[in-house]
Amino acid sequence: MEAVMNNVTIEKAKTSKIKDVDFDNLSFGSIFTDHMLVCDYKNGQWQAPKVVPYQPITLDPSSKIFHYGQSIFEGMKAYKDESGSVWLFRPLENFKRLNKSAKRMAMPELPESSFMDGLTALLQVDSDWIPQSAGSSLYIRPFMFASGNGFHASPADEYKFIIALAPSGSYFSGKVKVLIEKQYSRAANGGVGFAKTGGNYAGQFYPTRLAAEKGYQQVIWTDDNNHEFIEEAGAMNVFIRINDTLLTAPTNDRILDGITRKSILDIAEDEGIKTEIRKVSVKEVVEAAKNGSLKEMFGAGTAAVVSPISAFGYEGVDYDLPELEDSYAALLKKRITDIQYNRAEDKFGWRHEVV
Ligand code: PLP
Ligand code: COI
Repeated sequence: MEAVMNNVTIEKAKTSKIKDVDFDNLSFGSIFTDHMLVCDYKNGQWQAPKVVPYQPITLDPSSKIFHYGQSIFEGMKAYKDESGSVWLFRPLENFKRLNKSAKRMAMPELPESSFMDGLTALLQVDSDWIPQSAGSSLYIRPFMFASGNGFHASPADEYKFIIALAPSGSYFSGKVKVLIEKQYSRAANGGVGFAKTGGNYAGQFYPTRLAAEKGYQQVIWTDDNNHEFIEEAGAMNVFIRINDTLLTAPTNDRILDGITRKSILDIAEDEGIKTEIRKVSVKEVVEAAKNGSLKEMFGAGTAAVVSPISAFGYEGVDYDLPELEDSYAALLKKRITDIQYNRAEDKFGWRHEVV
């Protein structure tokens, strides 16, 4: 049976997998809901989006995604409040960033209605999958890739946009110890670092594996010129508190313009916390760690939310960060999650109800 909602065709799954899910013990992004959204681009046009049962995709071996890596994605979450209402956090920011990534990777930009109406229909169909347990949410993964065929090294003529959903718990388990990278680079000037494209992540896996072998969970990337300035982590932007000032790197064409990052900056300002968006050198951070003025470091991102960094490694030395009772990280995490889960007033107008 097919239904139509806001121009989105809905084909329901015959059976549901939901009864097999332990919602009290969710890991991150490893189980998927009963449905997904699919929208195809062909003959120079985006077709109408469809909600279909979650299923594998069949592709020709010459599909350009396999050879030339035209692939982009987004990361969002849906939150269910105590009364059962469902909320998104600044979804249009993700939509705009998806199209920024698309443009850089020579992929077609998606119409806003396909994104928002498609996502809304999908969330309505799978709303029972949105967890209500503390710290859990429904992770939303919109992604687009080149499904068109051929070995010619040029943009594909066909693409698929899909949204998949994964009820998820926290991204990190335990403390987050990071390594400040001196050799490898994540992104280069004029490159694709600001785009959320698959290759940016693939390129990090090897250096991150080397770091993991030494006991670090994430790499903190530094500028590709001289590895002098802190840029961002593998899956989050980085904040550094020196004395009572909160510092973060300015975004540029090497850094992902994080939605959590800009929200944290606004909340910090609202809290009266002094913030500085400026280049922060590794030297400054190491000196602050040595003289005791480095109070906190934390990562910020949709998956990671606000994740305190317990220690960082640099040039073979580990620097532990103090455990503060009244940390900025704890305060800012509470403020942002209270808005996301509809537990507090949303003076910024960031919450978006899914109805
Ligand atoms: N930086 C990178 C490389 C990321 O993958 C992410 C995650 O999306 C972020 C930063 C944080 O961005 P956002 O807060 O929009 O999720
Ligand atoms: C997110 O925070 O949504 C991300 O996309 C990070 C991801 C690599 C897990």
